[in-house]
Amino acid sequence: MTEDPVDGGRMTEAPDQERTKSTYSLQWNRFRIVRPEEDRATFRNHTGLEPADLAGRIVLDAGCGMGRYLRVAAEQAPGLVVGLDLSLAVEAARAVAEQHSAAAVVRGDLLRPPFAPGSFDHIYSLGVIDHTPDPAATFASLARLLRPGGRIVVWVYPRERPLIEWVMDLQRLVTTRLPLAILLPLCRILAPIGGLKRRMMASRSRVVERAGVALHVATIGVSMHPDPEVRVCDTLDWYAPRYLSRHTTQEVAGWFERAGLEAIEDLGRDPRFFHHGQGRGVNLAGRRPATVDA
Ligand SMILES: C[S@@+](CC[C@H](N)C(=O)[O-])C[C@H]1O[C@@H](n2cnc3c(N)ncnc32)[C@H](O)[C@@H]1O
Repeated sequence: MTEDPVDGGRMTEAPDQERTKSTYSLQWNRFRIVRPEEDRATFRNHTGLEPADLAGRIVLDAGCGMGRYLRVAAEQAPGLVVGLDLSLAVEAARAVAEQHSAAAVVRGDLLRPPFAPGSFDHIYSLGVIDHTPDPAATFASLARLLRPGGRIVVWVYPRERPLIEWVMDLQRLVTTRLPLAILLPLCRILAPIGGLKRRMMASRSRVVERAGVALHVATIGVSMHPDPEVRVCDTLDWYAPRYLSRHTTQEVAGWFERAGLEAIEDLGRDPRFFHHGQGRGVNLAGRRPATVDA
């Protein structure tokens, strides 16, 4: 039992995040993947942030992983960029931060962030809140860290059609219970299927294209990223974590509204990266009001 400040100081059971720690400690130290052009494009498309927005600002990368977007923000922003992550991915992220004078990385839990309320001008959190035990509470906890007028942007997995949700849940029911020492080699064995799906789904033959879609549904978590090593990493990212929730735009907009945020924008309409994973998602931004009415 721990005292939980998020829960008004009541005594609550701390949620079990051991699998999150072990998965991402392994994943982001084993796969320190840097794809500068893709990372910059994903950062721009999923945050809507330009270098001018970040200049002189204090920025939080909430759930920074190995720091691929921390690197982009730090390169663009002559301000301060802080990465926060629960796992030993912070070791990989610190190696990134060391190359930038105004970047730092802290290990901690987004549900109990080690920062004072109102600390940040910008917060971005890409593919993280959906890996926490209570996404709505995690969002509320992050929104409190915004200064008046500050902006937060999040990307989470989208809720799929019932059949797809069922296939995803069924597969993950098994895979999330497998030891990582078995799951990682399994992902390596499965990864070529991602390349095959990609080629089939791009086929001009309608029959081959449909067969590719069927194969994709049957192996829904196997990444189709063009780079075989990223494919292994993304496939592990799908099958290993205990928490992987999917959300509707309406639900996420509700998190923003309940946190009292305004100017809510939907950035999630860009399908450019869909074919290899973190593309199609629920991607909203909003601002804390600059002044609070008396
Ligand atoms: C899918 S990875 C995304 C990492 C990074 N945002 C990126 O896109 O490269 C999810 C990250 O969220 C972190 N994470 C999950 N739950 C967390 C929590 N409660 N507090 C802080 N970080 C958390 C994991 O350790 C992991 O590094």
